[in-house]
Amino acid sequence: MTDLFDPVVLGSIECRNRIAMAPCTRCMSPDFLPTANVVEYYRRRAADGVGLLISEGTVITPRGSGYLDVPGIFDPSQAKAWKRVTNAVHDEGGRMICQIWHVGNVAHRRTTGGLTPESPSGIAPEGHVSRIVNDDGQPVPFEAGEAMTEARIHEVIDLFRSAAGRAMEAGFDGVEIHGAHGYLIDQFTNLAFNHRTDEWGGIHRTRFAREVTHSVIGEIGSDRTVFRFSPLMSVANQPWLEAESTFELLLTDLWEAGLRILHASNLDYDQPILRSGPEIADPDLPLHRACRQHWSGQLIGVGSLDPSRAARAIEDHEVDVVAFGRSLIANPDFCHRLRSGLPLRDYDPQMLATLD
Ligand code: PHB
Repeated sequence: MTDLFDPVVLGSIECRNRIAMAPCTRCMSPDFLPTANVVEYYRRRAADGVGLLISEGTVITPRGSGYLDVPGIFDPSQAKAWKRVTNAVHDEGGRMICQIWHVGNVAHRRTTGGLTPESPSGIAPEGHVSRIVNDDGQPVPFEAGEAMTEARIHEVIDLFRSAAGRAMEAGFDGVEIHGAHGYLIDQFTNLAFNHRTDEWGGIHRTRFAREVTHSVIGEIGSDRTVFRFSPLMSVANQPWLEAESTFELLLTDLWEAGLRILHASNLDYDQPILRSGPEIADPDLPLHRACRQHWSGQLIGVGSLDPSRAARAIEDHEVDVVAFGRSLIANPDFCHRLRSGLPLRDYDPQMLATLD
């Protein structure tokens, strides 16, 4: 019977167990550079025994930043700063991949360093930029920004590719392409935000995900590339439209691009993949079980899992690796607590104020 603490080889990444740290935005890296505190934050989780650390979202260009003080991976100085993190994690026996990120127009010129946000169709998502307010204390709405031209689409695909190469220079064991949560790649995938009538919209809406993935795999290999997606969860509170056909299109395209490791993200692990509808054979099928049925590669699961539900997910072979976000923020000694049968500390958003 497979256990949370059994080793696993994800692609070619040899992980000492099946516990992953989910990517968690921390906004503690001014000038796109992870600091010494960030090094220690990740080192602590690796020293505790986490098998695979997935970095916080790390932007591939300032224009892709929707938060202040998130790290980058578009410049050699950032690779150098990240190298201190990956060395620390490796010293402690952990493995680490870099989540490469472009938020599209879940952004504002205040978060992009004055650059106009960009997205498939220039449709502003509803909502406000996280963690900042205007001078008068009011929240800052997302900006519609510009619809990307064909030429710009190709440039951004290339930015993902070069960021993946830089992540390898920085000593990461691989990358995770952030294709989830309503950010740029997901804005292409989701018909709510992609109104294009060219070869990047409609039935071609998953082409951007496919071409980014193909390009990253060309740079670093399919054995080191993970893709994260989320049919339901989005910072703009807008699940996929036509979710069932989008799911099929995306998984088919990613497989054809050479992807073999998929990370399915839901706020709640057991939430059904799709809103119920008459066309759906089994509306109650949870996302991860749907992935197992339709995906022949490896799977990472996530979604407010408690350790016993996570252990069952591994035991039942629903997923190969389970990721924990909030509980790993709240418990730097998470693995120790699991092994010793100690209770976990509850997560509290105030914990985001410091990097413990
Ligand atoms: C967030 O900070 O709320 C956040 C960041 C990245 C995600 C999802 C949520 O992928």
